[in-house]
Amino acid sequence: MTNRITVNADRAKGTINRNIYGHFSEHLGRCIYEGLWVGEDSEIPNTKGIRNDVAAALKKMKIPVLRWPGGCFADEYHWKDGIGPKENRKRMINTHWGGVVENNHFGTHEFMMLCEMLECEPYINGNVGSGTVQEMADWVEYLTFEGVSPMAELREANGRPEPWKVKYFGVGNENWGCGGNMRPEYYADLYRQFQTYVRNYGSNRIHKIACGPNTDDYHWMETLMKQAHRFMDSITVHYYTVPGDSWQEKGAATGFPEDMWRVTLKKALFMEELISKHSAIMDQYDPDKRIGLLVDEWGTWHDVEPGTNPGFLYQQNTIRDALVAGISLNIFNEHCDRVQMANIAQLVNVLQAVILTEGEKMVLTPTYHVFDMYKVHQDAQLLDVHQSITELGEGKQAIPQISVSASKDEEGRIHISLCNLDHQAGAKVEVGLRGLVDKLVSVQGTTLTSDAIDGHNTFEETDKVSPTEFTAFNLIDQVIHAELPPMSVTVLALTAE
Ligand code: AHR
Repeated sequence: MTNRITVNADRAKGTINRNIYGHFSEHLGRCIYEGLWVGEDSEIPNTKGIRNDVAAALKKMKIPVLRWPGGCFADEYHWKDGIGPKENRKRMINTHWGGVVENNHFGTHEFMMLCEMLECEPYINGNVGSGTVQEMADWVEYLTFEGVSPMAELREANGRPEPWKVKYFGVGNENWGCGGNMRPEYYADLYRQFQTYVRNYGSNRIHKIACGPNTDDYHWMETLMKQAHRFMDSITVHYYTVPGDSWQEKGAATGFPEDMWRVTLKKALFMEELISKHSAIMDQYDPDKRIGLLVDEWGTWHDVEPGTNPGFLYQQNTIRDALVAGISLNIFNEHCDRVQMANIAQLVNVLQAVILTEGEKMVLTPTYHVFDMYKVHQDAQLLDVHQSITELGEGKQAIPQISVSASKDEEGRIHISLCNLDHQAGAKVEVGLRGLVDKLVSVQGTTLTSDAIDGHNTFEETDKVSPTEFTAFNLIDQVIHAELPPMSVTVLALTAE
């Protein structure tokens, strides 16, 4: 059956915040060390310690915002351990992740330098679980105070006289779990207290972020909104796509049984229900949608690759992960009235990474290619889309064959991202355009697909799953008739004159 989609080019529904295409980097496994930071003395080509190959790939993908230092690590991190001469920095054990030595060589200055290099916004996550109000207040002063103050002087003594601009600041992470096992009532009070001392210095304006619920903990959301909505600019939610039945048996990233394809995508689609329900709660306290919902941890979580440290969360990344990315990003776009940021976990070598490294080698994952293809949606106007889509399977297990999102950029170009969730068959799609004053003159397409449900790139074969030109369409009377390849993510670019 043909899927029918109508894009209403004259009905913009809001701006797709570029930060929906955001990322997350934690002191976990080989994300920071090896993945981003190799140190100035490394033989791996680097700029002031940051890998050149990784930095170039991230810039190309237009990374808009980067969250750091965690995750669970954030609520164990004491920022003063990571400043000053490297040889004097405290060596400690990363108790949460793999029990390895953390030498603190990557700290505040290195993170801020990385963001400057990538031209992305820093999003710093403060420590509530094991930190103090004073420690958090000092960090904000160290980062942003202009003039004479104890922390500004310390910053200058460490080589940075001028303050940085820091917009996004998180007050704790997963405080319902690794960040202190708190009840929402208790955390809501702590949030109110801690955020009081997260101050705006000079012209710097901080966007204060409260720790939101785990997945579908609607009670947490309700409590935080009720007790603290006046004090926050955003609240987070975390949801991971775990294909298996439990955290003990998540399932392998590659070589998985065929039925896990649909199970995984069904779980990824749950993001729609989650955002809708959390948004409905937020609407009661914030009908004008001032407060953002930040999905600041999302993505697939598989079993670690055999033979790797279980605490490093290193997993391969396949076309199935690419579909999860495409579907999730389409959902975030559609909710851009409330979802102001999303940060896939995690940037390099951890969970659903966009980049994997091994020594000096680097490989871009299928998920990277989705982010690269979708970057055209950043800051564009979300367009209203009507759709009539075939279902795959039956009853509660059914999933739509197609996931879609459309936007119009500043130059008036329309981009339509289309995922074919069917791993066995191509999908016929007719995309009609309504509300275009000018005639549609050209359509260009790019697609990402594979010949295997676990198709992926390796250090030996880096381009096995990479985007190619999409030509399987005809344009007849303003209607695009396309056949999307099985298990594919496609972006169409439409130019009108
Ligand atoms: O991303 C890995 C971990 O998942 C993060 O540290 C934590 O916040 C979440 O539980």
